Formats: sequence, structure tokens, C-alpha cells
Amino acid sequence: DEGVGRLADPVAVVAAAAEVLGRGNDLAGVRVLVTAGGTREPIDPVRYLGNRSSGKMGTAIAIAASARGAAVTLVTSAAVLPPDPAIEIVAVATAQEMHDAVLGRFEATDVVVMAAAVADFRPKAAADEKLKKRDGVPEIVLEPTPDILGALSERRTQQCLVGFAAETSQLREHAADKLRAKQLDLLVANDVTQPDAGFAVDTNRALLFDPSGDVEELPLQTKRELADVILDRVLAARTP
Ligand code: PMT
Repeated sequence: DEGVGRLADPVAVVAAAAEVLGRGNDLAGVRVLVTAGGTREPIDPVRYLGNRSSGKMGTAIAIAASARGAAVTLVTSAAVLPPDPAIEIVAVATAQEMHDAVLGRFEATDVVVMAAAVADFRPKAAADEKLKKRDGVPEIVLEPTPDILGALSERRTQQCLVGFAAETSQLREHAADKLRAKQLDLLVANDVTQPDAGFAVDTNRALLFDPSGDVEELPLQTKRELADVILDRVLAARTP
């Protein structure tokens, strides 16, 4: 043909490249729900308790799962959204909103990957108006947020549950405890004190824990590469 050319949509180009590279559509027909980003717990109308999660890790998993043919829902508090229009986006801010969004979709989901950094505590009451400096240092009383993974493991039927552990010390011990306590099929542990892993960077270094007690130590890799390794393990866990 001769004439003005038109480049295919980048999403189609990526899907075609993935097909050629081998993983193809190996998650076709699988409904995957991923969470991403750090939750924000209001103190007053302008301030919140938050954390350093950018949403990059969870978003990479959503993009990887969609490229492999899964029907993907991303429940996210992150500002940067994936470019793939096939991914359903559910925007949330607080741990309670994330809880409600995830639990409400759980029955129609096959795999849940909780990559979000969910607050464990929130202010018991948020002030209706901006707290004023002239009124002195406020005393903020905290209360626990709902444990989303805990609620999922109580309600699960056929679903595969993947959790993360963000640790600053005793990575292996804490990760093994979380896998057991939340009855997960896979736990991805990362040491968030490392400059090239954990929060906000494009790379991560993870340990994968499974219920048989196996621990797989992965090298430093991009979050997109790690996403595919996690999905490979999910696929293996779902295939008897
Ligand atoms: O977003 P990035 O900047 O890319 O950073 C990635 C990351 C460091 C946030 C990610 O790799 C990661 O470690 N995510 C989990 C962070 C976390 O909340 O870890 P945790 O150890 O506090 O929680 C353990 C698990 O329970 C997590 O799967 C968490 O989503 C879940 N949880 C926590 C609290 C809560 N109330 N409900 C939960 O379900």
C-alpha cells in the first residue's frame, strides 16, 4: 500500500509484542483486582495522614495482567493512571473506601493483589474546618482501619489472594507471619529502606513467600518485570 500511514494504538502494539514474547493471553478469562497507592486519612478538610506509596507497583501489576488477557480492575488512590483503556479504574482515597470497593467486587473476582499501602490507623474524627495554628497543637486520636486482606480471607471461596509486606526490619520473619495470619496464596515482601526498591522508584527487589514455606529471592528488576513474575506464580497456584 502507498499513502499516509497510521501507527496502531500503543496498547495494541504492546499486546502484540507480549504475544510474540511468549506469555500471550495466558490470563484470558481470569478476573484480576489490584489495589495501588497509599490511602489518605483526613485530619481536616486540607490535611491527611498518608504514606510514601506512589502506586507504581500496583499499577504495573494491573498493566501486566491486562496485557496477558485478564479482565482487570484497579482500585487506586494514585494520581497516575495506567494508559490501557481496558483496565477498569476505581478511584478511592481512604482505607474504608478501598475496603468497600474491594469487598463489593470480591465475589466476581478470581485473583486479588493487594499492592496498596493501606493505612493501619486513621484519625477517629476529622475536623469539619481547617485546624487553626492559633488554637495550639491539636491532639489527634487514632483508631484502627478495617483490615482488607483479613476480611477477604474470611469471605474467600475460590479466589487467589496475594498480599504484600512493606518492612523496614526482620523482613523474612514479618513476611512469614503476615502470610500465615492472612492465609495468603502468595506474599510479596519488600524492604522499603532500600533506595532502589519499595516506595516511588521504578525498580523493586522482592522475596516471594508461599504457603508451603518456600521463599524465592528475586533480583533487582523493574516493577513491570516483577509484576509478570508475580502473575506467573499466581497462574501456577491456580493450575493444580
Ligand atoms: O506504590 P509504590 O510507590 O510503587 O510502592 C510499592 C509498595 C512499597 C507500596 C508495595 O511494594 C508494597 O509493599 N505494598 C504493601 C504496603 C503495605 O501496606 O504493607 P503492610 O505490610 O503494611 O500490609 C500488609 C498487607 O496487608 C498489604 O498487602 C496491604 O495492602 C494489606 N493491608 C494493610 C492494611 C489494611 N488495613 N488492610 C490491608 O489489606
